[in-house]
Amino acid sequence: MRSKFYITTPIYYVNAKPHIGHSYTNIAADATARFFRLKGVDTFFLTGTDEHGQKVEKAAQEAGKPTQEFVDELAEKFEHLWDTLDVRPDDFIRTTEPRHVKAVQYVLQYLYDKGDIYKDSYSGWYCVPCETFWTEGQVNTEGDKPRCPDCGREVDELTEENYFFRLSKYQDWLIDYIKKHPDFIKPEGRYNEVLRFLEMEKLNDLCISRPKARFSWGIDIPFSPQHITYVWFDALINYISALGYPEETEKFKKFWPADVHLIGKDILRQHAIYWPIMLHALGLEIPYQIFAHGWWLVDSKGSAEKMSKSKGNIVDPYAMVEDFGVDVYRYFLLREIPLGVDGVFSYNSIVHRYNSDLANDLGNLVYRVLSMAEKYLPDGVEVFEERPKNRLVESLFELKDKVDLEFSSLNFYDGLSAIWEVVNLANKFIEEEQPWTMRKEGRFDDLKRFMYILLETLRILAGCIWAVMPSTAEKIWAQLGIEEEILEVGWENIFVWGGIKEGTRIEKYPPLFPRREIDD
Ligand code: MSP
Repeated sequence: MRSKFYITTPIYYVNAKPHIGHSYTNIAADATARFFRLKGVDTFFLTGTDEHGQKVEKAAQEAGKPTQEFVDELAEKFEHLWDTLDVRPDDFIRTTEPRHVKAVQYVLQYLYDKGDIYKDSYSGWYCVPCETFWTEGQVNTEGDKPRCPDCGREVDELTEENYFFRLSKYQDWLIDYIKKHPDFIKPEGRYNEVLRFLEMEKLNDLCISRPKARFSWGIDIPFSPQHITYVWFDALINYISALGYPEETEKFKKFWPADVHLIGKDILRQHAIYWPIMLHALGLEIPYQIFAHGWWLVDSKGSAEKMSKSKGNIVDPYAMVEDFGVDVYRYFLLREIPLGVDGVFSYNSIVHRYNSDLANDLGNLVYRVLSMAEKYLPDGVEVFEERPKNRLVESLFELKDKVDLEFSSLNFYDGLSAIWEVVNLANKFIEEEQPWTMRKEGRFDDLKRFMYILLETLRILAGCIWAVMPSTAEKIWAQLGIEEEILEVGWENIFVWGGIKEGTRIEKYPPLFPRREIDD
């Protein structure tokens, strides 16, 4: 078993409010962190905000606010959303904090002294929204004006004195490193994509400064008063500054290297190329894994399109939570598509998922079992200590390794489907065993034994879903009369038969997930 687990999310630009895409990454990271905590692993989960750069400065100007005030307000919005979604990071880093600025300046000075950062004059095309320089050969020149090859917007021509980081010097090292570490980039398709790119193209050194003459919202370059730091070079360092780097803190020694940097596929190049090279040049260890998840697109008259402010199709996580509740939203995002691929978000798809998996399957099971317990066990639960050997119980116990394997590797899609197979088996078990007949025939001992199996099944299933649906899981435990919290009990002990105590009186509660109508 791992002795520690460090998971990070990207730090989000504070140029606009968070949307479902941001919430997806943080919910997946939170569920993973929760699962490791549940297993008793010392876990550190980091998220935060990326507050420098021209894009942020521009957004502040457009809002008519001083930049610092603007970023303070937006950072709070992100923190508030995480709190609302039951996302519980151990730290929230902001790149305008002194602890981060100090680390970035240390890195710059160190690499400059080492000769890995040098000054040069540069001309090229600059895309303001992407904060990226493009060379003559890279810009899209098909139309009347040169355009950014990434976002398609117009680019400006620039010639400047700037500082460069020697990416090219480490290209061969990186290729070799990636080849020796097949799990470094996930999913596999992304691994191949990065490797192919590195083998085909010669890396340009990375321009890591911006002249203050152009804009000044950034971290000062310690050896050049006329420059600030390129926002990506600044931002990536958050993963170590949050642990106290460059100080050799206990936290740093314990948690570095990161176990997983969870990111969207849009920022793979920065994480899989710039970041490992920066770390290697600093003499630091490389993270174990970079996991690039897919994108949520939105349904527009039957076809999938990107969310954008201009199209006015951005899905607001608060609206989803208000409509469906936090746990339903978390469940939907993690169950609907595997983490590596793109998904299409639509109101009807969430209602479908809700009705089938939550109202019909899980909600129905909980409701039936509690109602039967209230009716058939008026004197409280009778415990049957020996774990029975039947298909339902066997499958339930197989979840221990299966869910561990899937959730630990961020495969919520398969982990949750395995759990739901058991939910369905339990519903079938009720039909097959026919407790109402046992009662009619006076087979009370069989009935009590049958009820204990179902109650224990609910208890264990709730333990399995806790990482993804924490309040639903806690609610089920409370309804089963269990006083301890799931996290306190821990993954191993959840699977010890006999958690529900003798004499517990069970009542029925209103259904957890009442059925909903579908809007057409
Ligand atoms: N600030 C940089 C990251 C620096 S990390 C050192 C940045 N910020 S961002 O605000 O643009 O957020 C990008 C991340 O948000 C993506 O990598 C992804 O995690 C998430 N998503 C944004 N839109 C998304 C979707 N439509 N779908 C899924 N996730 C997406 O890039």
